[in-house]
Amino acid sequence: MNELRFPEHFLWGAATAAYQIEGAARDDGRGPSIWDTFSRTPGKVYQGHTGDVACDHYHRYADDVAIMAELGLRAYRFSVAWPRIQPDGTGPVNTRGLDFYDRLTDTLLARGIDPIVTLYHWDLPQSLGDRGGWTNRDTAEHFATYATAVYGRLGDRVDVWTTLNEPWCSAYLGYGNGVHAPGEQDPAAAFTAVHHLLLGHGLAARALRSAGARSVGITLNPADVRPADPQSAADAAAVRLVDGLHNRIFLDPLLAGGYPDDVREHVARIVEPTFIRDGDEKLIAAPIDLLGINYYQPGYVAGRPDGEGNAAYPGTEGAVHFLPPTGPLTDMGWMIEPAGLTRLLERIATDYPGVPLLITENGAAFPDKPGVEQAGGPGQVIDTDRIAYLDGHLRAAHEAISRGVDLRGYLVWSFLDNFEWAEGYRKRFGIVHVDYLTQRRTPKASARWYQEVISRNGL
Ligand code: FCB
Repeated sequence: MNELRFPEHFLWGAATAAYQIEGAARDDGRGPSIWDTFSRTPGKVYQGHTGDVACDHYHRYADDVAIMAELGLRAYRFSVAWPRIQPDGTGPVNTRGLDFYDRLTDTLLARGIDPIVTLYHWDLPQSLGDRGGWTNRDTAEHFATYATAVYGRLGDRVDVWTTLNEPWCSAYLGYGNGVHAPGEQDPAAAFTAVHHLLLGHGLAARALRSAGARSVGITLNPADVRPADPQSAADAAAVRLVDGLHNRIFLDPLLAGGYPDDVREHVARIVEPTFIRDGDEKLIAAPIDLLGINYYQPGYVAGRPDGEGNAAYPGTEGAVHFLPPTGPLTDMGWMIEPAGLTRLLERIATDYPGVPLLITENGAAFPDKPGVEQAGGPGQVIDTDRIAYLDGHLRAAHEAISRGVDLRGYLVWSFLDNFEWAEGYRKRFGIVHVDYLTQRRTPKASARWYQEVISRNGL
């Protein structure tokens, strides 16, 4: 294979999220989140796993940062747990919660690793959940207050701020098909949540900026939606609909001034959008400095009157058939198609020009185990499938750059094996293996491979 070089100053790093790794669910005044509740609800998470202990990163962060430094990571994307900062979601700030992120930030900086903060990676304080969560407009206002508190503590040392992680998941999986917390199944609630999440982004971004933040963005998981049959007009219409509900409903208000007409009309068939108030779209459309892209797999759809649709895409019943993934799959059952990443990056750069892109997540789950059936000797994890996945996607990212996409960096998901939401601990995405009984960390072969990629700035 060819040698590839990435641009100078390309940002290499890894990502995690608070609920997935921290544990310490009751420490230092942390309040409950909707994920604490959801993971305790029978049948919602694989074998009733919870984030109570997770990777115990809250106590082991210094050792974890030492591993990052050894691997040569230049950036580390972590999320702040709102329930640590405001245990009830509103009201007084819990300084002990802020202290943790303060220590983490200093430890990263001492090792020359840039912190990239995500303010919301799905762990909404339960008391806000009790008041309707993201279906309540007040949650967006509270989010901005919380963001200001975090900025007040870390803003002197953290340069890159992102508001939300994948609002598509928060809205459609949280309130549409109910696979994520809070587990509701209500199409009207899902669309209401979409708007309030975007509003929360807009309010928080404005607050961060007025507090002095220079780099403010958001992370989406835009989908590369493909037609089952490229010649079929019905399939093209299905692509248009799903693209509207997954991509343009977020990208247009953020980067093109407001919601697209076709999406508005679709939503209005399900819920009267009285939740969109004058001025909201203007606020949401304020320029951002960075768009985070999380990419894992493409999706194929067909337009069919007998299509079963998907509750995560309200209103697609009787219109869209979502094709089951085919070809090589990861342990999540997700398709491995690196070309989807090139297409997605190019499409965003073309349709929404002018905003620098950062891959804030990309990676794969495989059922790796240390030692036993692996060839690398005791305690080693030889995850060649993950290396192949990462290699393919980095080549795809490089291809996008060579076609002119302004891609600034790549953060692998994930630094550690962790709590994979509804799948619990059974899916492993880390480049570093975690033994959940001993909390022992073992860098996998992919971590050593990535270390080499970073040191060469290429493949
Ligand atoms: C993304 C999430 C992240 C992780 C990966 C596998 O949707 O942002 O927390 O679970 O998927």
